[in-house]
Amino acid sequence: MAGTSALHLVGQASGGVTIQVNGQTVNVNSAPDTPLLYVLRDELGLHGPRFGCGLGQCGACTVHVGDQAVRSCRVPVNSVTEPVTTLEGLASGDQLHPMQQAFINEQAAQCGYCTNGMIMQSIVLVNNNPSPSEADIRQGLATNLCRCGSHLAVIRAVQGAAAMATA
Ligand code: FES
Ligand code: FES
Repeated sequence: MAGTSALHLVGQASGGVTIQVNGQTVNVNSAPDTPLLYVLRDELGLHGPRFGCGLGQCGACTVHVGDQAVRSCRVPVNSVTEPVTTLEGLASGDQLHPMQQAFINEQAAQCGYCTNGMIMQSIVLVNNNPSPSEADIRQGLATNLCRCGSHLAVIRAVQGAAAMATA
């Protein structure tokens, strides 16, 4: 898992907040009200989630908390009670998550800045709706912003991942 070496395992750090990230229990030193995004990126070295707006409006920072897609820029780390999964935690060994593979298959990125959020949000979308229509995908990703215009390829990727999952 990318970034694993940067994780502080419980017992190796003195912080007061303990969270589960990508299958590991980590004890973080950041102040309890620090946004989860900052903890992931700055303390744990997990750079999949991106800082875009910092206001919960662009989706670049999306991670999974439990089975929900959340905007980690708006979540204080001390409010996190369920396991966190970041982009780095999606693959199983060398096997990419089907959504990651579908984004590659469709080349569904240009600069890639939004791609973390698109993938993380799309996984939850398909988990909740295994056969989404194009309208469902558009609605589900309506607040994931892309400045490069990769939306049509993203829609194809989500459709491809959904098809893989139901094949
Ligand atoms: S950086 Fe979190 S929603 Fe934009
Ligand atoms: S690919 Fe550049 S912001 Fe979406």
